[in-house]
Amino acid sequence: MDNEFDLRQERKVNPVRTNLEKTGLYHSFLLPNGKVAEGSMSLAWQQQRIESFRLPENLSGKRVLDIGPWDGYYTFEMERRGAEVTAVDVVDLDTFRSLHRAFGSSATYIQAELYDLDPAELGTFDIVLCLGVLYHLKHPFLAMEKLCALTSGVCIIDTFVIDGKDYLAGNRRTIPYAEFYERGELAGQLDNWCGPTVGAVEAWIRSAGFASAEVSRVTEKSACVLAHRKWQDLPADVDPPIKVAGLSSNMHRGRSFNSAREEYVVLWCYWAYDAAPPLDSVFPQIDEFGVAPFDCSLNADGLHVSFRIPPGSSPGRHTARIKIGHATWSDWETFHLDLRGGAVTPVIKAIQDGTTWTPEEVNWANGGWFTIWVEGLPVTSDAGNTVVHVSGIPHYPTEVLVETGQINVKLRPVVAAGLHEVAIIRDGTRTMAREIRVHGEPPPVRGLEDLV
Ligand SMILES: C[S@@+](CC[C@H](N)C(=O)[O-])C[C@H]1O[C@@H](n2cnc3c(N)ncnc32)[C@H](O)[C@@H]1O
Repeated sequence: MDNEFDLRQERKVNPVRTNLEKTGLYHSFLLPNGKVAEGSMSLAWQQQRIESFRLPENLSGKRVLDIGPWDGYYTFEMERRGAEVTAVDVVDLDTFRSLHRAFGSSATYIQAELYDLDPAELGTFDIVLCLGVLYHLKHPFLAMEKLCALTSGVCIIDTFVIDGKDYLAGNRRTIPYAEFYERGELAGQLDNWCGPTVGAVEAWIRSAGFASAEVSRVTEKSACVLAHRKWQDLPADVDPPIKVAGLSSNMHRGRSFNSAREEYVVLWCYWAYDAAPPLDSVFPQIDEFGVAPFDCSLNADGLHVSFRIPPGSSPGRHTARIKIGHATWSDWETFHLDLRGGAVTPVIKAIQDGTTWTPEEVNWANGGWFTIWVEGLPVTSDAGNTVVHVSGIPHYPTEVLVETGQINVKLRPVVAAGLHEVAIIRDGTRTMAREIRVHGEPPPVRGLEDLV
């Protein structure tokens, strides 16, 4: 308990506020007239901090987004280096506006919440600065996903962390965690919500859709972590390419994904070794972006590598490939995200028992398999986005073969003998129904054998 008391006392301290009240400025500036405007942070500290961003001196042609610029030191510094800068803050400050004028800045200044920024409106940015903002956010995971959607290169996340001292002493936490501040426990400020460990910042970055997290600096109270959208320093392509046996959603066997769901991509790869490779040697890619894998396991049918589709990915066709260690990249596999309804509603031409091919009937004695022959199946149809309703009970096909217009389905044991209506639902559209007669007794539902 004593320890907890000390920790609470330590968290309450707010050295910045006292300085800020004195100076009125958070950042310090070397003004165009040669004078120095002293803020709460020293110029030397700001210059030292910027080193940890690992950015080139020349940023011409780059788009930079500075989230939470406050007085704007980093906005104007990025602009001095040649970048086109957009600065977004929840407050609109006189200090920022005066300095904007004084420096002759052409940076765009927007008053908005990070959560409300839309890459469809603003575009994406080569570099996103998220400095001193993360711990102010009540929804850090949502914010991280937004940052990923807005970044095309690197997002620099500099934040308060709770384990800086331990990290520097070499005591790295293996389980990422964060403190939660309900009532101004952190520095007495009501707009401070969370205090992550360094490991939590890294894990949040990877889970938000970035390829990798690179810790570039840790102090007792802060960490600067670079969130990369593209793989950095990949091992050389020395060995033969990885062979991919298939790609599917974890939720179904299809290749169509819904961005509103907690759904992820599973790549099935041929793997000749006895053990799965370490996760940090596995490099999936979706379109031009790397994505951190969160699982890689060896199964009877090969190596399964799982990774999420990065937020901000547009609806439509996408491609994925993979590299493992020194192996060369695999071929590209295709999948679809957020499919919209097709222009043509498919038509069921015939239904047959899957074993005897008897038309318009299915027999439980033959296993309950049936095949539906369909005209006008959209080319993107697969077992994940095509549902067959048998008297309103959804059935998920084992196969959807677009070329032949064939859908193979196994009856669920809740379908009894008799006449049933069969219809196909795809992207919200429903085909005309067609009747089949089910013969025989269905098997009992697993776990309810005693019901029969
Ligand atoms: C501690 S200051 C950091 C200033 C500067 N980025 C730095 O690190 O030196 C936090 C800034 O983030 C802004 N901010 C806080 N929450 C925000 C949000 N949800 N969206 C945009 N800006 C936010 C604050 O208004 C403030 O300007």
